[in-house]
Amino acid sequence: MLASGSGTNLEAILEADVPVAVVVVDRPCRALEVATNAGVPAQLVERTSFGKDFDRVAYTEQVVDVLRAHGVELVVMAGFGTILDKPVHDAYPGQILNTHPALLPAFRGWHAVEEALAAGVKVTGCTVHVATLEVDDGPILAQEAVPVLPGDTVDSLHERIKDVERRLYPATIAEVIATKGIPTT
Ligand code: GRF
Repeated sequence: MLASGSGTNLEAILEADVPVAVVVVDRPCRALEVATNAGVPAQLVERTSFGKDFDRVAYTEQVVDVLRAHGVELVVMAGFGTILDKPVHDAYPGQILNTHPALLPAFRGWHAVEEALAAGVKVTGCTVHVATLEVDDGPILAQEAVPVLPGDTVDSLHERIKDVERRLYPATIAEVIATKGIPTT
C-alpha cells in the first residue's frame, strides 16, 4: 500500500484482512503509525523535494525497489501524495489500484472534493480504478454515489465520501485478488 495521509483506508483494508506486504509512505504521516501499530512492515521513502528539481523517475525507482523487496504483487494507493512515473507502471502493469474521491471522469486531480462542492453538484462519490500513467484515468472497477448535502464543507463531504471508500475499496481489492488469483497468505 502507498499512503501519505491519515491512513483510514489502510485501516479499513487491514480490518478487512486484505494481506498487506508493506506500507510505503512518502512523508511522516499517520498512515505510517497505523502500519507500525498493526505490525505491518512500513517504509518511509521520503520525498525530499517538492520543487522543480524533483527527480520523479528516480523517486519512483526507489519505491519500486521497496515493493519488489517485499514481494508485492498488487499495488494499492490510498491518498499517496506523489504521482509516480513510468517505472512503477512497467514493474506492475495493470496491477496498481487507486481510489479517487469523485465520480471519475468528473473532478480529476488533487482537489476533487473542493471542485465538486464549488460546481454545485448534488451528487458526487468515489471511484476505484486501475491506475495508469495518466493521472486519475484507467479502467473503472467500482463507483458509488454520495449525496452533497446542504451546508456541506469540504471536510464534511470528504468524510462522507471516505465512509464509502472504506467499504468499497477493501471489497474491490478483495475481488481483484480473487480474480487474479494472487495468494492471500
Ligand atoms: C481518500 O479520500 C482518497 O480517495 C484520496 O485520499 C484520501 C485518503 O484518505 N486520494 P485516508 O488517508 O485513507 O484517510
